[in-house]
Amino acid sequence: MSHRIERLSLKGEGLTGDGLTVALALPGEEVEGEADNGRIDRPRIVTPVADRVRPPCRHFASCGGCALQHGSDAFVAGWKTQVVERALAGQGLEAPVRPILTSPPASRRRAVLAGRRTKKGVLVGFHARASDVVTEIPDCRLLHPDLMAALPAAAAATLLGASRKGALAITVTRSEDGVDMAVAEAKPLDTALRIDLAALAESHDLARLSWNGEQLAERRPPRQAMGRAHVVPPAGAFLQATEAGQAALTQAVREALDGARKVADLFAGAGTFALPLAETAEVQAVEGSAAMLAALDRGWRGAPGLKRVTTEARDLFRRPLLPVELARVEAVVIDPPRAGAEAQCAEIARSDLARVAMVSCNPVTFARDAKRLCSGGFRLDWVQPVDQFRWSGHVELAAQFSR
Ligand SMILES: C[S@@+](CC[C@H](N)C(=O)[O-])C[C@H]1O[C@@H](n2cnc3c(N)ncnc32)[C@H](O)[C@@H]1O
Repeated sequence: MSHRIERLSLKGEGLTGDGLTVALALPGEEVEGEADNGRIDRPRIVTPVADRVRPPCRHFASCGGCALQHGSDAFVAGWKTQVVERALAGQGLEAPVRPILTSPPASRRRAVLAGRRTKKGVLVGFHARASDVVTEIPDCRLLHPDLMAALPAAAAATLLGASRKGALAITVTRSEDGVDMAVAEAKPLDTALRIDLAALAESHDLARLSWNGEQLAERRPPRQAMGRAHVVPPAGAFLQATEAGQAALTQAVREALDGARKVADLFAGAGTFALPLAETAEVQAVEGSAAMLAALDRGWRGAPGLKRVTTEARDLFRRPLLPVELARVEAVVIDPPRAGAEAQCAEIARSDLARVAMVSCNPVTFARDAKRLCSGGFRLDWVQPVDQFRWSGHVELAAQFSR
């Protein structure tokens, strides 16, 4: 029996009219295959659509690191733009949506790899699609060459630190000073393991190595450029996934807040937006992680010619900035996690602020929060979709609100 794919899920998988999820299928295609638990993982494509292309990566058939290599770049760009437009329409919002800015292949500078021990040795790569098997990725088209060059170090760490049962979670981040590796779910440290890991950091020339949250070696502080500043974020901390994505989002935020001389950066992380904005404005950076703010502050102090940046560690879900606090700045940039910033947007809606830049990794919570701002008298001026998770179902965006 064949099934017709009606649309894609937010993970980029095909959905049929009769409720099946079909991996590797595109809207309009007729597919056949064994359904298991509501899924067809290895469909036979009976009638391919014109948007179907030969996946550029030879690992794509099995690797779960990418979901959408079988669609043309134009199809994926159009689909991600539609995800944003539909989320807005779902809240009754309309706004100009600009052409999406997609990061190039081989540009991911941060990734979480899986490392597993086997009878014969180790496997390092991404989890296979819908499975906890690890697929090796020697010809991955996604990762920056510097991260590809760190695969042997990740394999060596797996050999030393994975148990026979579980997989290691190995966060590799490209920095200006080499690879920053943070390993989690690993064997506890003992003296012998510490010595072996220090030798591993040396022989693979890692900038920094952390193990289950403890920093074991910092051979060079792994710096990230944020505007004119250079920041050494805490090990494994959030960082925009590509340099091109960070540049696109920063440019949109600069445009949205152009001319403001005092701004607040809410959910500021280690200063991705605060530090570039400090070239022209005083910035109050607010964020839940004190460690990220300490990194931001050190980066600011080391950079020449920036305006004043202050930091405050604060839980913005429970204690959002109130209108009386927002009255101290002229504009706000807000970049919450996937859950969005419902409480903070309610306070911004009640405030007298006239300009907001919002950055989001979740169009659905973005649209909910945008609606809240618009109910408070803001206009959504434009939305800039940004695709820094090429070939995945994710899409990010920046937007300008004013009143
Ligand atoms: C999407 S990241 C953005 C970080 C930064 N703007 C950047 O671009 O690098 C979201 C940030 O929100 C912070 N965060 C998460 N929950 C929070 C909360 N309840 N209160 C304050 N900050 C929170 C995280 O630590 C993280 O740094």
